Amino acid sequence: MGQKKLIKFAAIKEYQNVLEYPQDMPGKWASFFQALEKSSTNISLENLAITANSKLPNGHLVQPLVLELACGRGEYAVGLGRMFSDQNFVGLDLKGNRIWKGASIANRDGLKNVGFVRTQIELAPNYFAKDEVDEIWITFPDPQLRLSKAKKRLTHPKFLRLFQQFLKPNGLVHLKTDSPNLFLFTKTVIELFGLTLITATDNLYSTEFMQSEKWDARCAIKTYYEGLNIASSNCIHYIQFKLDKELPLELDEKLKEIIAEFEITETHDSLARNGKQAME
Ligand SMILES: C[S@@+](CC[C@H](N)C(=O)[O-])C[C@H]1O[C@@H](n2cnc3c(N)ncnc32)[C@H](O)[C@@H]1O
Repeated sequence: MGQKKLIKFAAIKEYQNVLEYPQDMPGKWASFFQALEKSSTNISLENLAITANSKLPNGHLVQPLVLELACGRGEYAVGLGRMFSDQNFVGLDLKGNRIWKGASIANRDGLKNVGFVRTQIELAPNYFAKDEVDEIWITFPDPQLRLSKAKKRLTHPKFLRLFQQFLKPNGLVHLKTDSPNLFLFTKTVIELFGLTLITATDNLYSTEFMQSEKWDARCAIKTYYEGLNIASSNCIHYIQFKLDKELPLELDEKLKEIIAEFEITETHDSLARNGKQAME
């Protein structure tokens, strides 16, 4: 492993705003952010109070909790943290060297409502209690274009069922992607499972969309992968939907049949994406 990565890994171990595979966190995020606000020394996770209702033990209201999944450098956690001081933001990613970037910026700028968890998305229900999360942002995830990898797409019902374990009923999911295939796949999932679609555009930054009432100022935040235009689509796609229905397992087979008919139009695949990652 490179020297730079080792330095970043060592740095995040000392950061108060980064938790690596933390134990016993479900229900404690509101207390964690309160401790982060006050503390300059080690936060003891065992001693944090679990908030079972809308108030903290000291009477303060629990702030909404927004999760950025596969956050990379955490541009959304940090950007939203700046925009909304009355909400808390957690970026989650496997890679400590990427998290280091966002966590360092949050520390430098004193953003006490921004934190990071280094872990796998598949383990997310171990870190958040039922109904603890208000919204989820997913930006530029690997589209996993090969049909055999469809279950790895972060908007596959397999993942959505996972998110339902901690997202509030009617909680919102936002997806930004440059992949027309992932966009189409996600729209198909929403339609098949009867989820409520709030917004879908295949050209987020078109003048028409930006001037419409559907434009959400949060979408203006740009991430590292957004700038790479890996799918060569030159268009940013955006979907916002509610995870407001049961997702019957029986429909997964139907989904498989539908997507088998999609034409793969993108010129890249995971290998190309990994190639760009290697260049970072
Ligand atoms: C293509 S990058 C996008 C990063 C960021 N959202 C952006 O737009 O710049 C995908 C990110 O997903 C993370 N990732 C992939 N699989 C993951 C998993 N199973 N659990 C946690 N993070 C994962 C990778 O480490 C990587 O940072």
